[in-house]
Amino acid sequence: MGQNLTVIVLAAGGGTRMKSKTMKVLHRVGGRSMVEHVLSAVQAVQPQRIVAVVGHQREEVGAHIQGVVPECVLAVQEEQQGTGDAVRVALEAVGLIDGTVIVATADTPLLRGDSLRAFAEEHEAAQRAVSVLSAIVDDAFGYGRVVRDEDGDVAAIVEEKDATPEQREIGEISSGILAFDAAFLAEALPQLGNDNSKGEYYLTDTVGIAREAGLTVGAHAIDDAWQTAGANDREELAALGKELNRRIVSQWMKDGVSVMDPATTWIDSDVVLATDVMILPGTQLLGATVIAEDAVIGPDTTLKDCEIGAGARVVRTHGELAVIGDGAAVGPYAFLRPGTKLGADGKIGTFVETKNAEIGEGAKVPHLSYVGDAEIGEGTNIGAGTIFANYDGVAKHRTKVGKHAKTASNNTFVAPVEIGDGAGTGAGTVVRRDVPPGALAVSAGPQRNLPGWAQTKRGGTAQAEAAAAASQDDGVGIGESESGGAES
Ligand code: UD1
Ligand code: CA
Repeated sequence: MGQNLTVIVLAAGGGTRMKSKTMKVLHRVGGRSMVEHVLSAVQAVQPQRIVAVVGHQREEVGAHIQGVVPECVLAVQEEQQGTGDAVRVALEAVGLIDGTVIVATADTPLLRGDSLRAFAEEHEAAQRAVSVLSAIVDDAFGYGRVVRDEDGDVAAIVEEKDATPEQREIGEISSGILAFDAAFLAEALPQLGNDNSKGEYYLTDTVGIAREAGLTVGAHAIDDAWQTAGANDREELAALGKELNRRIVSQWMKDGVSVMDPATTWIDSDVVLATDVMILPGTQLLGATVIAEDAVIGPDTTLKDCEIGAGARVVRTHGELAVIGDGAAVGPYAFLRPGTKLGADGKIGTFVETKNAEIGEGAKVPHLSYVGDAEIGEGTNIGAGTIFANYDGVAKHRTKVGKHAKTASNNTFVAPVEIGDGAGTGAGTVVRRDVPPGALAVSAGPQRNLPGWAQTKRGGTAQAEAAAAASQDDGVGIGESESGGAES
């Protein structure tokens, strides 16, 4: 690509139609801000320098942009006096330059690097003073129109508000993305006026200036108008997000991922999927989620920044910053909070919530449990309805359960506490002290049975009748079969 290419990204406008406290270009689709999408396309062209023009909320927007592209030069446009003024500010920030300058807007998230590259290459090959990336659209309302002369050459770009009724019929629009010979741009900018319906310095007026100077001007029509579509309000943002998602899902299917219902599957731009991953309906894969081959995800599952191992199965689950091992099983109805790590072939089952929990290889937490701030060794089974009581009202504490332990149902582990390798617990145990390896911890008191309680205390009820009938049938007094009871 051009040895000497500068890209200017315009991001100073407020985006009032979003009706938002968040700047337009910071609104997100596909897991990235709009400006991040544009910067990623720009970076793919490997320009020599990138300049972003910021104005509204410059601290936030500038910090965000430099978070994405640290070497990006920021130029501050104090007052939004138009795109021509914005480019003037950008050129002032980098000083005298030559070569090619591309100006892009920051609100076109579907723009691709290869399109920008093709545009710049055509511009340079044709040795033009200015080129406009145009598109043929059904509804040109609001856009600048590409006006051509009788020979079909580009004569000018006329903004909607300044266009004649005939010009408004033109279906070829300016995308707002332009390419310039840097020397021409530097000469043309001071010639721009603001005597137009918006009272702004229009960058697009450079086209007319070049024509009058007898310089070469051209338009490069993009086939795929979505790439230059900008979002001005939330409805347009949603439409762009939907189209972006359609493209991402379609690309993953081409790359060997099965998606049962593309319409209810949402995949962010930065997600990575292996071949033969299977995605079931109602699934959102967000952020930096990575899924290994043969994993089956869904239905109705949301995973953000998660790592799922090969062949794992994740059903009706909400997960964030969790790592799930190969062949492991999760859900249905699991809540994986940050710091969850499940070993290979392990299980986090139904109605189980986990947080900062390392669960070893083959270990299982199958039912109705909360596992917070815990380490569970390999091969251990945690009984149904177990609460890892990590919070004493002031501070959080950790629980450690060793390898191949078998804890029973309805336990509470009061942290900090440690249950040794191969240890066990009885049902309903509240573990407050460490359990040595191999020991069985039982904390519930001995069971007492009060014989004939139903008949004496609930006389006349169906309960009492059933109890009386049962006592006659087997002739055994209730409670007599209990060993070790302390009956009176
Ligand atoms: C602009 C183009 C129009 C094109 C359309 C495509 C001009 C004069 N018009 O119109 O031909 O069809 O984009 O969407 O260029 N900005 C600044 N500083 C300013 C003004 C704008 O940074 O002073 C930024 C905005 O943040 C935005 C971009 O430039 O990212 C475009 O500005 P906008 O006001 O939306 O221009 P349009 O009227 O849409
Ligand atoms: Ca616009």
